[in-house]
Amino acid sequence: MLTRQLFILGSLGILLSGFTGCNKSGGDTILIGEFASLTGKEATFGTSSHEGTLLAIKEINAAGGVLGKQLELKTEDDQSKAGEPANVVNKLISKDGVVAILGEVASSRSLEAAPICQENGIPMITPASTNPKVTETGDYIFRVCFIDPFQGTVMANFALNTLKAKKVAVFTDVKSDYSKGLAKFFKEGFTKAGGQIVSELDFNGGDKDFKGQLTAIKSAAPDAVFIPGYYTDVALICIQAKQLGLNVPLIGGDGWESDKLVELGGAAVEGHYFSTHYAADAASPKVTAFVESYKKEYKGKVPDCMAALGYDSVYFLVDAIKRANGTEPAKLRDALAGTKEFDAVTGKVAINAQRDAVKSAVILQIKDGKFKFLETVNP
Ligand code: PHE
Repeated sequence: MLTRQLFILGSLGILLSGFTGCNKSGGDTILIGEFASLTGKEATFGTSSHEGTLLAIKEINAAGGVLGKQLELKTEDDQSKAGEPANVVNKLISKDGVVAILGEVASSRSLEAAPICQENGIPMITPASTNPKVTETGDYIFRVCFIDPFQGTVMANFALNTLKAKKVAVFTDVKSDYSKGLAKFFKEGFTKAGGQIVSELDFNGGDKDFKGQLTAIKSAAPDAVFIPGYYTDVALICIQAKQLGLNVPLIGGDGWESDKLVELGGAAVEGHYFSTHYAADAASPKVTAFVESYKKEYKGKVPDCMAALGYDSVYFLVDAIKRANGTEPAKLRDALAGTKEFDAVTGKVAINAQRDAVKSAVILQIKDGKFKFLETVNP
């Protein structure tokens, strides 16, 4: 036990002791597991969701905990790498004995962990993975975010109706389940609504040179290009598109959301659009209160959507633990499945029969290096 704690503290620095600061002897605490990309290619995803998660736990513990117990969080870094989610989630379940798992942001990594949670009968809640296959893994897998058939349709309608784009090119990361799924749902929605897909090209997440594909896309003369990627790749794609004179709106989904998108992409990401889960500048009391406490906790940093979803995932779990009157896995699972109305920072959530959250999306535009709220789209 002692060795294990030393190991965790060693690997996570002082974060855990600083934030959870509660009785670690077991018995009096409810141990929750979290796996996140704290380092590596999508480090901002994991860092943000982790910070939101910690903030919620801190608030709940300060208010007396749950059913008389304090919450304790055990976090593992999967380094944004395939193969790691399975390792760390196995460890959280078998060695640490967590009662539930929170994670991941990226769909491919949630898909890797979900079968392990399902086989062990440990509820898993992904804060932000939007690929439908994640919850299809089994009845112990939940999410607090919408799914990509919805997100793809939202952007298809936006392209057609708001941007008046009739011909669109789609540029997909074939290494990512998220990207492949979102590309497919966008194309279905766009063609069904009367639009035309004039070019379809692929890249591999982590590539550095996209000029060949972007040249081919340019020659198809699209009115807009849909790029369902993650921010590191998207920033480079936007830069190279601009260099090639591909001057049409570039549009994408939640994977674009990171301060790094603007930091890396600079002027090349200006004016473009993406859909996501919440807008920090939306005028709702729940959002404002969250943004204020997050800024207080993290030196004035404005929470992105992963931070909000990580925060929501904890309250969602705790709401179910209360209704289940404990953490017995089958009862907890039933309580999670029975969530009919949950008031999250990212909007009102109802869990449907597929254990997915039915809720609204927002569309943002990158304006003067900031994410500007354009509209909310209801399901
Ligand atoms: N929805 C993305 C996925 O499923 C993850 C993501 C969520 C990325 C929110 C950014 C913001 O892979």
